[in-house]
Order: sequence, then structure tokens, then C-alpha cells
Amino acid sequence: MSEPTTPHDVPIRPVDDPESRAEAVRLLRAGALVAFPTETVYGLGADATDEEAVARIFAAKERPRFNPLISHLPTAEAAFALGRATPAAERLAAAHWPGPLTMVLKRAPGCPIAWLASAGLETVALRVPGSAAARALLAEVGRPVAAPSANRSGRVSPTTAAHVAEELGDRVALILDGGPCMVGLESTVVDLSGARPRLLRPGAVTAEQLQALLGPVERAEAGDAITAPGMLASHYAPRAAVRLDATDRLPGEAFLDFGGTRADADLDLSTAGDPVEAAARLFAALRALDRPGVTAIAVAPVPAAGLGAAINDRLQRAAAPRR
Ligand code: TXA
Ligand code: MG
Repeated sequence: MSEPTTPHDVPIRPVDDPESRAEAVRLLRAGALVAFPTETVYGLGADATDEEAVARIFAAKERPRFNPLISHLPTAEAAFALGRATPAAERLAAAHWPGPLTMVLKRAPGCPIAWLASAGLETVALRVPGSAAARALLAEVGRPVAAPSANRSGRVSPTTAAHVAEELGDRVALILDGGPCMVGLESTVVDLSGARPRLLRPGAVTAEQLQALLGPVERAEAGDAITAPGMLASHYAPRAAVRLDATDRLPGEAFLDFGGTRADADLDLSTAGDPVEAAARLFAALRALDRPGVTAIAVAPVPAAGLGAAINDRLQRAAAPRR
């Protein structure tokens, strides 16, 4: 039988084959995108510790904004090295990992997950997938793998390798095929980083199952997302004000350039004007410039093409009036 071909001739190889996984590991470690099966949906994977690799996820999906991504690990032990365990998290892990459950935890000290993967937040979303083949791949990669569903923004999540090829065949280096996904629906996301557990996304692990282990679980309100752009609990905003489309620097300002417009800039998102590089540097740059004595961060204009749209979305939220 010949290898299945796709409109884009992207290789599709069996996830159960160690040589195919070795190729996936090589690609992931080199910063490329690899789609892989989990028990929920196919993920569009990248090395979660590599800011540029994570930026390529957003570019491939054509996501209009940088929402935080889930990092995948082979074991609970590996997950709790990256996110701070709590008694509740340990109870959930014992009952539901491996499985279709994602926990949002405070970053552990020295956590190497890219800032773009957590949209600049001090928390990280972690999951140990139920699929044994996915865990084998993750163990072999030896790094957290960031993976949203392997579809273009606004399309349905793929549950077969053929769906992935249709959606992203021209943008991934390799698709690992594990057959149809058993669950077919994204993982449940529960936030354990605050005083009380909050259900952020319903999924295969039900609210009742969570409550049996944790007691009362708040549900995130749909309205939470629109109260104050830039100041949402789930959206990083610098303490300093942010001034957009700046061509000059006012007293007390730090200057964040794009495309090398000012010789006296503090930082440049990309001197070459590359939006993928700029996305990769965005959150680290805002954090670096958000220091005592800086009243505002002046940001040079960033063209809206490609990932520029998501960069501008994030900058506009950071610049929006604060309550
Ligand atoms: O089933 C799944 O979870 C699939 C497969 C591929 O594993 N992955 C997936 O990933 O759906 P993603 O990255 O699209 O899911 C992100 C979800 C969003 O609801 C996001 O808001 C939430 O996780 N999330 C991630 N990091 C977060 C954080 N630090 N704080 C709050 N929410 C976070
Ligand atoms: Mg999705």
C-alpha cells in the first residue's frame, strides 16, 4: 500500500511507528510544526519552549489573536515540573491524567514555556493526553509541546489525519496518523491557579466529576471576556501605559520598535520587519520594558498583514483605557 497523498503532499505517517515518531521529534526540536493525534482532537504541535515555533502555530492557524495554548506532557510528574502543583491539582491528576483534562496552574520557578504560549500570563495550561501514542511522542520529544486543535481559525476541530491535511497540509512538516480520535471534543479546562477552581472550558471530564473531587467549581461567565480589554484576568497587560503607532519618544517612555525605524529604540520586535519574529518577541519585550521609571511604552506601527493582525490586537488591548 502506498503512503496516502494529500493535496499538498505533506507526509502522513503512522504515530505507532517509532521511525515516524523519531522524524517528528527531529522536526519539533528544529522548531517545525507537526500535527499529531490525541484522544480528543488532532493537535498542531510545536516546541512550547521555542517562542518562534509557537509563533508559527498562530501564523499557520491564521488566528486573529494570541490566546494562550495548552502544553502537552507525557506524565503528571513532567507537568508538575512546569506548573505549581496544589492539593486539588494532585487529586485531579490522580483521577484524570492521562486524559481529556487540562489544568491551568501558576508557572513553576524557571518554567521554560514560551511567553507567547501563555499569552504573557504567569500561568500555564498543562495536559497529559489519554492517547498512549501521543504520550510516547511527548516522552521522546523531552520538551513540552504546545498544541491547539489542528484546524484553521474558525473551522471545526479535526478528528482524522485527512481532516488535518485538508486544513493545514500546506503548513505542517508532518502529520502523524493515529486514526479517528476517540473523544472528538477538546479537553475540559479547569483553572486551579486562583483561590477557587474555575471551569474555563467544558469538555469530556464533566463539571460533576470535577465537583466530586474539588467541591464547588465556579464557571467562567461568557461576559468575563469583554469587560475591560487589556485588563482581563486572562490577558496580560503591562503596568506602564502603552502608546501605539509611535514615531517619536516622549519623556519617560521606553520605545519598542518594529523594522528598525529608530536608532535609539530600547528594543525592536524585528529589525527585519518579520511578523513571525515580532510575535515571538512581543510578550518578552513588553515585560522587559515594563520597568520602574517607565511611564509608557511607545510602540512603532506594526503592519497588519499576516500575524501583524494578532500583534496589533494584543497591543490594542494593552493600550486600552484601564479601570
Ligand atoms: O483537547 C485539547 O485540549 C486540544 C488537544 C490538541 O489537546 N488542544 C486544545 O488546545 O484545545 P488549545 O490551545 O486550543 O486550548 C486552549 C484553551 C483555551 O480555552 C484557552 O483559553 C485555555 O486553554 N488556556 C490556555 N492557557 C491558559 C491560561 N494560562 N489561562 C487561562 N486559560 C488558558
Ligand atoms: Mg480549536
